Amino acid sequence: MNSRRRFLTLSTLGSLTGLGSLKAFGQVKPVKGPIIISTWNTGIRANNLGYEILQNGGSVLDCVEKGVNVIENDPNNRTVGIGGFPDIEGNVTLDACIMDQHQHCGSVAFLQHIKNPVSVARKVMENTKHVMLVGEGALKFALEQGFKKEVLLTEKTLTAWKKRKAEEDDKLPEINIENHDTIGMIARDADGNLSGSCTTSGAGMKLHGRVGDSPIIGAGLYVDNDIGGAAATGWGEAVIENAGSAMVVELMRHGRSPQEACEEIVRRIANKLEDWRSIQVGFIALNKAGQTGAFSIKKGFTYAHHSGGQNTERPADSLIKG
Ligand code: GLY
Repeated sequence: MNSRRRFLTLSTLGSLTGLGSLKAFGQVKPVKGPIIISTWNTGIRANNLGYEILQNGGSVLDCVEKGVNVIENDPNNRTVGIGGFPDIEGNVTLDACIMDQHQHCGSVAFLQHIKNPVSVARKVMENTKHVMLVGEGALKFALEQGFKKEVLLTEKTLTAWKKRKAEEDDKLPEINIENHDTIGMIARDADGNLSGSCTTSGAGMKLHGRVGDSPIIGAGLYVDNDIGGAAATGWGEAVIENAGSAMVVELMRHGRSPQEACEEIVRRIANKLEDWRSIQVGFIALNKAGQTGAFSIKKGFTYAHHSGGQNTERPADSLIKG
């Protein structure tokens, strides 16, 4: 079936689902109930808490914030929050953003000493007129909002950093499936409203001051409550260059399924990069009808999918199969 035939009007799908204003979708049977997807297997724990929040009457925004907080709070996770891998100078610097059903968003980048950057991003969204705060300003704001200053560099991570520093002589490592697992989360509540979040410590051994895609609205995360949401993981520079998550949502607006949209943007990124085989980039997407999709350059990307009370880790298809 071509995309044009799959394009339904707002009233058609809206009346089928009772999910409010829908503008563009495939002819799909809408999935009922809450749906949550998160990148990587760490998403399982994030989804579990997110689902519990929704079941207890919490908002979809609470679901995506508190869900990823679980991973930010885990000192054993090396790529998010406390315990995150430091930059080339040994500083843990965090990036995160959040987006709600009303197209409101908040973001922090290059934030140090605060383990829950996504919660600071939410405060930026809710308590300021701005979208994004960075560095010292973001830290000052976080402290004013009551966040606690903490040492984010754990003994284990420091040891790993020292080893890598000695071995790699300051070379930037590739982001790959072993060393990079930004958590991106998209959720739809039972009423069909969407929110998303994304949080990371970024590329290990990045230059001091480097900001990746995760706090950039439209790159690491994008949500349009009429259409769906998408989040990215992997080499942030490639995602920023292609406005990755916004493009996935835009493709869904024009009739692609979440799976087709993720595949198309991953192929576009690969087509534009000579060294695409050496990097990992992956996307997850969820549309308002409840369809989901995921695709990556390299094999090994997985995502956690929570629907109908089942929370499962699913492998994403990839450009490079082997
Ligand atoms: N995708 C996360 C980063 O590149 O920092």
